[in-house]
Amino acid sequence: MTFAHITGWGMSVPETILTNDDLSKMVETNDEWIRDRTGIRERHIVRGGQTTASLAVEASLKALQRANLHPADIDLIICSTSTPEHIFPATACLVQDRIGATKAGAFDLSAACTGFIFAVNMAAQSIRSGAIQNALVIGSETLSRFVDWHDRGTCILFGDGAGAFVLQASDMPGGILSAVMHSDGSGGDSLIIQGGGSKHPTTEATVQAGKHFIEMDGNEVFRFATRVMAQATRETLEIVGIQLDDIKWIIPHQANIRIIAAAARGLKLPMDRFIVNLDRYGNTSTASIPIATVEAAEDGRLQPGDRIVLVGFGAGLTWGALAAEWTGPLPSERKVYPRRYRLWARIRSILLRVVRFIEGAIWGRGS
Ligand code: UT7
Repeated sequence: MTFAHITGWGMSVPETILTNDDLSKMVETNDEWIRDRTGIRERHIVRGGQTTASLAVEASLKALQRANLHPADIDLIICSTSTPEHIFPATACLVQDRIGATKAGAFDLSAACTGFIFAVNMAAQSIRSGAIQNALVIGSETLSRFVDWHDRGTCILFGDGAGAFVLQASDMPGGILSAVMHSDGSGGDSLIIQGGGSKHPTTEATVQAGKHFIEMDGNEVFRFATRVMAQATRETLEIVGIQLDDIKWIIPHQANIRIIAAAARGLKLPMDRFIVNLDRYGNTSTASIPIATVEAAEDGRLQPGDRIVLVGFGAGLTWGALAAEWTGPLPSERKVYPRRYRLWARIRSILLRVVRFIEGAIWGRGS
């Protein structure tokens, strides 16, 4: 029997920090309100040429380094994001090219803040079926590029960042144990970017109407979130027959400390069983769960053998949870350096573009 283990992890956040006091100079808000109502103190924001793909590449290279896995050994890359570089090509393909994952199929997954749970589950299912050996799963967002910086209902919440897991096949029991995925499209309007898709293609009018910004009914999303977090956690544990007491850490989507507190009450667990870092990053959507997991793994709170639940909710509406036993890198004889391989990936990418250009010159363009 094949199991899917989390063997590598990495994260990346931009250096630039936006504090609550900074925000109070931009919209009518203040540090006390934001901390009381959300728990957020500051968030990281991309600048200049930083994008969803550049954060994803950084997080991925760290995850590959930790797993000691060569980029060319990846079979599948799933990038969960709601803020892709383009409608197409998929951000996952840009990452594939930049890290030199020459063998990997790559696609994006759109399930908003729940996306990372869905993506890990899809990768784990592919591994367990025997179809693939190694997967790279990324959650990456640059929500700051889609926020209306005049809307105090949303701009105080979101931050940018990326987290990545490497998943690998092994016959050793453990790894991803169970998952549940849920959706309710009837709530789609409560958290939405209206413009830029096929319903409202970008025009001067859509831009003037601000349809390219995030719109949210905060109270409705809040009520929904407090309903589903505990429920999804219980469901995924039921599937695998594990008691809550056997779970070392619950790693929730980092949206609002009051939502996490409601989940804790619903599960009758103390808050110290939850990994929380939203005070420093805000809501990084699909990146929030992997970033919180990476921090816990890096500072030693998360140890091999620990059982954890990842649980999230978001636009769609979507929600889900996943139970796992933390593994860490698989034993390996050789030592790989994914970062060094990046130069070769760059050269390879340039050569492929040159070949395509020469082919175009020989065969003619558009004929
Ligand atoms: O990944 C999923 C993403 N979304 C979420 O997780 C959102 C979930 N919802 C929430 O986190 C909360 O609903 C918010 C943080 C968005 C809002 O908090 P709230 O406690 O639900 O506030 P509210 O919208 O009910 O507003 C309460 C008051 C209002 O004033 P009045 O009508 O009582 O005078 C608002 O106008 O707070 C006011 N207010 C603010 N004041 C200062 C709303 N936003 C702000 C603000 N600064 N940024």
